[in-house]
Amino acid sequence: MSEDKKLRSQEWFGGNDKMGFVHRSWLRNQGYPNDYFEGKPVIGICNTWSDLTPCNGHLRDVAEVVKRGILEAGGFPLEFPVMSLGETIMRPTTMLFRNLASMDTEESIRANPLDGIVLLTGCDKTTPSTVMGACSVDLPTIVVPGGPMLNGRFRGETIGSGSFNWMIKEKQTTQDFDAEAMQEAEICAARSIGHCNTMGTASTMGTMCEALGLTLPGFSSIPAADSRKKVMQQLSGRRIVEMVKEDLTLSKILTRKAFENAIVTNAAVGGSTNLIIHLIAIARRIGVDLKLEDFDSVGSQIPLLVNLMPSGKYLMEDFFYAGGLPVVMKELGDLLHQDIITANGKTFKENYAKATCYNDEIIAKIDKPLQKHAGIAVLKGNLCENGAVIKPSAATKRLMNHTGKAVVFENMEDYHHRIDDPNLEIDEDSVIVLKGVGPKGYPGMPEVGNVDLPEKLIMKGVKDMIRISDGRMSGTAYGTVVLHVSPESTIGGTLAIVQNGDMITLDVENRLLQLNISDEEIAKRKAEWKAPEPLATRGYVRIYLDHVEGAELGADLDVLVGGSGSKVDRDLH
Ligand code: FES
Ligand code: MG
Repeated sequence: MSEDKKLRSQEWFGGNDKMGFVHRSWLRNQGYPNDYFEGKPVIGICNTWSDLTPCNGHLRDVAEVVKRGILEAGGFPLEFPVMSLGETIMRPTTMLFRNLASMDTEESIRANPLDGIVLLTGCDKTTPSTVMGACSVDLPTIVVPGGPMLNGRFRGETIGSGSFNWMIKEKQTTQDFDAEAMQEAEICAARSIGHCNTMGTASTMGTMCEALGLTLPGFSSIPAADSRKKVMQQLSGRRIVEMVKEDLTLSKILTRKAFENAIVTNAAVGGSTNLIIHLIAIARRIGVDLKLEDFDSVGSQIPLLVNLMPSGKYLMEDFFYAGGLPVVMKELGDLLHQDIITANGKTFKENYAKATCYNDEIIAKIDKPLQKHAGIAVLKGNLCENGAVIKPSAATKRLMNHTGKAVVFENMEDYHHRIDDPNLEIDEDSVIVLKGVGPKGYPGMPEVGNVDLPEKLIMKGVKDMIRISDGRMSGTAYGTVVLHVSPESTIGGTLAIVQNGDMITLDVENRLLQLNISDEEIAKRKAEWKAPEPLATRGYVRIYLDHVEGAELGADLDVLVGGSGSKVDRDLH
């Protein structure tokens, strides 16, 4: 920062008048000495800790370590809470509240005397929500990712927290998996602090932040319980104070090139489809033009380098020991923009040049990838005029070009009610169509797209079927699952008028998702279609329903797109 640029916090603390007194005096009840108010960079630590978000349960302790770093560098740390979103507990889905948490973050930052921000994140939505909010203010900001749990071990088998749960129905149906086994598996799957240890959404979000340049290099892969995580937390505290002095704001780091790096990296690590929605939402907050199609054009030819669940075999702890994300970054080389600046003030090239791979079964070489093309395929067709997505690396080859008969479920309740009905007409070539799980439909676009297969087909040994919905899928899930169909069924997209027995074609290579009926028939059914009653008439959900945009736009609220900067003209009196 130039010498003459005054710290933002000095607008609160720098006055020798009544308001200066008010802003300082009450804070002094915490015992801060004079010099804390005389031009130290004030760093807000935005904490998503909550007992209700177990993946972020350690962030109280993390904040103390970050404070150490801030104090060492001459900053003044002030920790504040924001709404936390616990993936496994909140109903109907955390995604309904991502935008609300982002508003909390944005307003908490802007309204307070803060010069720089540290975002403490972990469980899936706690990352995009806080990054989105911070983008709409655009102060110097660094992300401290909470880190994954240690590997789970259950009766001699390595199990991934996040992926194991998707096997439970199959295990209960086909194996001797009783209540006792279930109880035992529960604690085995989640045996340490941290978030899901697969390359699920939480690890994807940590990886995304590092690929965007928002963390210190190498930070995102370290397990939460590893003492090296603490070192990074402390260094992040030191670094944010420097970033304030350099005026290294989010918009200087989050360029279009940074977003392209995040897309490429996500493809190489086999990351979650949820990245699409969150990355678009973040881009639109910071004013970068990023479209759904970019995920295909930038990412779909990228090789898969990382052998982690759910696409592969290993877990985040193994990934860290193999060298972690820095190795992937180095392998990707010129597939990444090398010249862009990151939070530590250095470029990608400088940050990752020295990375070493210690296990190429876990991180493959670029010329010997696990798959030649990973990433996300963006589908178009009369069933999804605004697009839909599929993650080919998690899908079954046989089904990637397939035409089958639709078995339609009008909503989640209908699915639960009928899926295991022995008389349901369904076989492994059928296409499961699930409606009413989009942003307005559920509401909140839950992670239900990877619905379980019918019991009778599981017993026959069927492992995968095409499933199509306007919902999302957990980053830990897998299968030939078409997601994010837009426009969603609840607002009358073509998905709404699909009927049992209609033929549907999925052709991933040609990026096609098609309902094989005539345009006239589609128009006729749409004219007869009746919109359902809105799901809420008041409160936040009403605001959400009135303002949420389509999945292809990031499912943000239309009134939240963009930013308002950090300026607040009026004081309290
Ligand atoms: Fe929190 Fe998976 S449930 S990260
Ligand atoms: Mg999730």
